[in-house]
Amino acid sequence: MLGAEPIWIVLRLLHIVSGALWVGSAFLFVGFIGPSAAEVGPSAGPLLSVAVKKRKVAKVITWLGMTTVAAGWVLWFLNLRDRGGLGDWVGSSFGLGITIGAVLATATFFVGYYGVGKNIERMVDLGDAIAAAGGPPSAEQQAEMGRLGADLERFGKLDLVLLLLAITAMSTARYW
Ligand code: HEM
Repeated sequence: MLGAEPIWIVLRLLHIVSGALWVGSAFLFVGFIGPSAAEVGPSAGPLLSVAVKKRKVAKVITWLGMTTVAAGWVLWFLNLRDRGGLGDWVGSSFGLGITIGAVLATATFFVGYYGVGKNIERMVDLGDAIAAAGGPPSAEQQAEMGRLGADLERFGKLDLVLLLLAITAMSTARYW
């Protein structure tokens, strides 16, 4: 029977648990942490610095995404193997739903990595440099902080919308 081998159970567990943590983390960051930090301004600096630089939250979320995507593609190819080819797998309603979710989530991984993860690390580095200098930020630093903030908001929202579409496809594919 499909999916009875232990490898399926281990891959599904890795895939769904890391997927749930990935979507949950993105929701918390984009929905609450990001807007709150933007609202309180420089006083959010020390909290973000500890979360991003010491506790590596952006790297942890990247690893959750990578685990979800990697385990997902292995499951996808196991399904391809067990269902007798691409036409039978993606041609099935379950396979189509899963594949649409897979493409959306894989694209989201790169949006999240470059658009959110890298930018939040740059913003924290800049914030730490401004705090270390002690005085008010220069005009260039202020402009850079503004640009990073706008990019984080834009890519964060795109990331969250794509993730919600991906998890909707994944969780309903069985009933398509
Ligand atoms: C946000 C990211 C993702 C989440 C939350 C997620 C969640 C899920 C869930 C809940 C299921 C179980 C569906 C069911 O059995 O009815 C599932 C199955 C599956 N997912 Fe994902 N998924 C994500 C991304 C991906 C990606 C990027 C791939 C890459 C190909 C993928 C491939 C699969 C496959 C092949 C299955 C079917 C496994 C099986 O036949 O037992 N998923 N996913």
